[in-house]
Amino acid sequence: MLALVPAGGAWSADAERGKALYAQCKRCHQVGDGAAHRIGPHLNDVFGRAAGSLEGFRYSPAMKAAGAGGLVWTAAALDGFLSEPRALVPRSRMSYAGMKDDSDRADLLAWLRLSSAGGPDRPAAEPTATPEEYGLDPQLLTIRGDPDYGAYLAGECTTCHRPDGGEEGIPAITGWPHDDFVIALQAYKRGKRVHPAMQLVAGRLSDEEIAALAAHFRRAGDEP
Ligand code: HEC
Ligand code: HEC
Repeated sequence: MLALVPAGGAWSADAERGKALYAQCKRCHQVGDGAAHRIGPHLNDVFGRAAGSLEGFRYSPAMKAAGAGGLVWTAAALDGFLSEPRALVPRSRMSYAGMKDDSDRADLLAWLRLSSAGGPDRPAAEPTATPEEYGLDPQLLTIRGDPDYGAYLAGECTTCHRPDGGEEGIPAITGWPHDDFVIALQAYKRGKRVHPAMQLVAGRLSDEEIAALAAHFRRAGDEP
């Protein structure tokens, strides 16, 4: 078991346990060697960087404004953000309710610090979602959709899904990578992911329509 005792020794965090807690983040974020932006930005070297500052990721206006206003991801800032993301950055696009337990967050951050910093021991990044984990046919990811047809179909979706996410547990779905989007909808459609409203919605969509919606919502992330 890997335990980190910071100077002062006031507490000790358990990075091994933190790795297990990272399962809550893994669906959206990559960290480690080769980590790329997925639903959320990669988390390599997150400690000490300004909020909303990475090239190539489409942050919400709220996250960019927080960074421009001086928010830096110190351990304390990360701790506050992860306990209640929208308390620190209202209107953030991160659909995560928060990790309420203080020692959970300490353990998670200890692990994230190890995996996030470069160096020979850093593990390789793991994928955010794979077809296999939902028992889906990987061929479903090769279907390309027409974003204009997706825009036509999306009218039904945006009655619930707002660009910055909802306050009632309705996540933001714009700007997602194609594969993550298709895997999420196919998992609902095929009953591998359980949520009555979304299973009903996705169950009516063909594979081509799901690909079209993925293309549309990916593009919709470009709009201000
Ligand atoms: C449902 C997807 C999702 C989950 C789950 C999620 N995040 Fe995020 N995260 C995002 C998105 C999207 C953003 C960008 C938010 C914005 O632009 O407002 C983000 C932003 C962040 C940032 C700011 C990064 C930067 O470059 O400024 C940090 C740090 C972060 N997430 C850490 C975590 C951690 C740690 C967890 C797990 C406890 C987690 N997130 C869970 C989607 C997610
Ligand atoms: C009645 C409201 C409603 C409608 C209409 C709706 N959704 Fe959802 N959607 C939700 C809720 C609530 C969730 C979160 C479900 C969960 O926790 O699994 C969700 C989840 C999702 C997710 C996964 C989000 C995540 O963070 O993993 C995707 C992708 C998605 N919806 C796409 C769509 C698309 C595309 C449409 C239109 C074809 C649509 N939804 C229509 C309410 C709705």
